[in-house]
This record gives sequence, structure tokens and C-alpha cells, in this order.
Amino acid sequence: MGYNVDFVLERDVPELTGKVVLITGGTGGLGAGAALLLAKRNPAKLYITGRNEAATQKIIKQIHDDGSSTEVTFLPCDQSSLASVKQAADTFLVRESRLDVLMANAGVMAAPPGLTEDGYEVQFGVNHVAHALLIRKLLPLLDQTAITHGDARIVMLTSLAFILAPRGHGIVFDELRTPQNYWFLGGFQRYAQSKLANLLHGRELARRYPNITTIVIHPGESNTSLVGNLSWYHKIVVFLPNIGRFLPVEQGCWNQVWAVGVPKDKVVSGEMYEPIGALTKGYTQYCLDEKLAARLWDWTDEELKAWL
Ligand SMILES: NC(=O)c1ccc[n+]([C@@H]2O[C@H](COP(=O)([O-])OP(=O)(O)OC[C@H]3O[C@@H](n4cnc5c(N)ncnc54)[C@H](OP(=O)(O)O)[C@@H]3O)[C@@H](O)[C@H]2O)c1
Ligand SMILES: *[C@@H]1O[C@H](CO)[C@@H](O)[C@H](O)[C@H]1NC(C)=O
Ligand SMILES: *[C@@H]1O[C@H](CO)[C@@H](O)[C@H](O)[C@H]1NC(C)=O
Ligand SMILES: *[C@@H]1O[C@H](CO)[C@@H](O)[C@H](O)[C@H]1NC(C)=O
Repeated sequence: MGYNVDFVLERDVPELTGKVVLITGGTGGLGAGAALLLAKRNPAKLYITGRNEAATQKIIKQIHDDGSSTEVTFLPCDQSSLASVKQAADTFLVRESRLDVLMANAGVMAAPPGLTEDGYEVQFGVNHVAHALLIRKLLPLLDQTAITHGDARIVMLTSLAFILAPRGHGIVFDELRTPQNYWFLGGFQRYAQSKLANLLHGRELARRYPNITTIVIHPGESNTSLVGNLSWYHKIVVFLPNIGRFLPVEQGCWNQVWAVGVPKDKVVSGEMYEPIGALTKGYTQYCLDEKLAARLWDWTDEELKAWL
């Protein structure tokens, strides 16, 4: 029941010479772990987006101390604000003419009821809507990179927690602009919707953009601040079903790093992989619901119209 954790950076990720990599929420947790490992494979450039510049400077120092030749840049991007996401994407587009890997990693879990600056339920806004805007804005560049260099990837972080998405809906579209204050495990029901959205968005991206390889990742459970910051009650919800499966925190980022290195003909674009590189057995009915995926795509398009 534990994961098969077999990963060796030097074996599984080729040198990333010349490539440009962008990681959202790379200021801590799995994103920071992925940044440190990927930098060892020396991409030309690595962008770390997030809110916490001081934390990023520590990671950049560590990357340089490790002897990496990568140019690392902190790109301010607060995903609870679409204006901030738009600004980050525009800044990136002015600076770069290729994007090889976009890792959509930033996330919040079991947050209390609340709304983002633009009025979305916090987790749906930060985890899905913000990523959708960033991805939509960078899609032309990803497509161009795929044609010019033969490979461009979106690595999308989801979570098996999507199993807690509200029954009968999966995603409750009518309530995405409310705090969704459910009485039973509300924080997880909200998180689950956002993570289901990440997965369905990944599947739809793969379908609509066949030249880009989209790999959806469940990283496995590990004690990052996403978990460490929870109340004891919420911790039980995370720890109990995952006894025997928790990964040491330094291994938590391995699966998403694997996704950067795996030869693209060894993966199925749009499918989800559990640690390490294992095609998932954990789909629920909503994960495979093409109508739901299409509805999410259309809803997202409509919401983002004003920002594109
Ligand atoms: N850890 C697990 O067990 C686990 C399991 C399944 C899936 N995941 C997924 O893995 C991803 C990474 O999670 P993690 O465990 O590394 O969590 P984490 O340690 O809490 O890190 C989350 C990252 O997202 C950033 N972030 C949060 N809110 C943001 C916002 N409004 N704007 C910009 N950045 C924001 C954080 O930056 P700040 O420092 O600014 O908050 C941080 O860099 C998430 O998508 C999560 O759903 C994790
Ligand atoms: C995919 O790439 C080929 C060139 O390799 C191009 O002709 C085609 O238009 C691209 N398809 C899409 C959907 O962008
Ligand atoms: C976790 O707690 C620390 C310290 O209170 C805080 O700085 C950080 O933003 C929190 N992280 C999350 C994901 O809530
Ligand atoms: C998880 O990490 C927190 C610090 O972020 C620590 O206090 C706690 O003991 C850790 N829990 C486990 C089970 O490792």
C-alpha cells in the first residue's frame, strides 16, 4: 500500500541544458524541493513564482552553493489576485522567448472559508483559477517551444484528496464565487474541488494542446507546511487514511521532478501519475467525466475573458 519510491535524479532527469523552467509556489515545500533538484540539472533559467521573496533568496543561495549554472529569478505572483498573476505572466513574456516546463505547484489546503481578491472561494481561486490564467497566457509560448525544440511540458499538481469532492457535483459551479461554508470537512471539500479542477484542467489541456505534454501529478503525502500547519482535527483526516504512505519530506517532490525528466513517449499526456511515475489507479467517477472537464474549461474561459 506504500508507494514505490524509486527515483535517482541523475538517472531519471537528463541535463536540462538551454531550457527555461517556471515553478509556481517554489518558495517553500515541494516547489522549493523541485527547484533545488532541477537546478542540479542546469537548465538555462529557472523562475520561482510566489509571494515570499526572502524565502526564495535562501533557495537561490542554496542553488548557487550547490554549484548550479542556472540563472534563477524570483517572479512575484500572488495567486489570490488575478491582477498579480497577469502581471507575472506579462513580465515573463517580455523576458523570455521559450518555456520548456511550467510546473503548476502552488497550493493551499483546508483553508478557512474565504474569497480571493477576485471573489473566488480561496482554494478554487489560488489552486485552479490563478493557474488557469497563468497557463492560458503562456500557452502560445509553450506551443511555440514544443514546435521549435520538440518538447514542452505542463506539470500539474493535483491530489488524491479529490475523492472528497462534493457528491452529486464534483465541482459546485454555482458556489465557486461563495465561501462554500460546508459544515462537514468544509476545508477538504473545498480543497478537493480545486484539486479535481487541476486534474480535469490537465486532461482538457492535453486534449486541446496535443503538442504540449501535460503530466498530472499526485506527489504523495508528505509533511510540508501544507500538512504541518493544519489543526489537529484536520491532521487526523490527512494522516489516518495515509498510514504507511507518508513520504519523507525531501522525497515529496520527487514525482513532479520525475515528470520533468521522463521521456515524453513514456507518458500519456493528460493522465495522472502517483509516486514514482505510476499511472494512477485512484481515479474517481468525476476524474473521468468528460462533460465535467468541458464544463470546467468553458466556465474558466468565461471567468478569464477579462484578463486575456
Ligand atoms: N504535501 C502533500 O502531502 C501534498 C499532497 C498532495 C498534493 N499536494 C500538492 O502539492 C502542491 C505543493 O504543496 P506543498 O505540500 O509544497 O505545500 P506548501 O509547503 O504549503 O507550499 C505551497 C506553496 O504554494 C505557495 N502559495 C500558497 N498560496 C499562495 C498564493 N496565494 N500565491 C502564491 N503562492 C502561494 C506557498 O507560498 P507562500 O510561502 O507564499 O505561502 C508555497 O510556496 C500543492 O498544489 C498541493 O496541493 C501536496
Ligand atoms: C503541432 O505541431 C505541428 C508541427 O510540429 C504543427 O503543424 C501543428 O499545427 C501543431 N498543432 C497544434 C494543435 O498546435
Ligand atoms: C504555515 O505557517 C507559517 C507560520 O505561521 C506561515 O508563515 C505559512 O504561511 C503557513 N503556510 C501555509 C501554507 O498556510
Ligand atoms: C511536521 O512538520 C512540523 C513542522 O513543520 C513538525 O512540527 C511536526 O512534528 C511534523 N510532523 C510529523 C508527523 O513529522
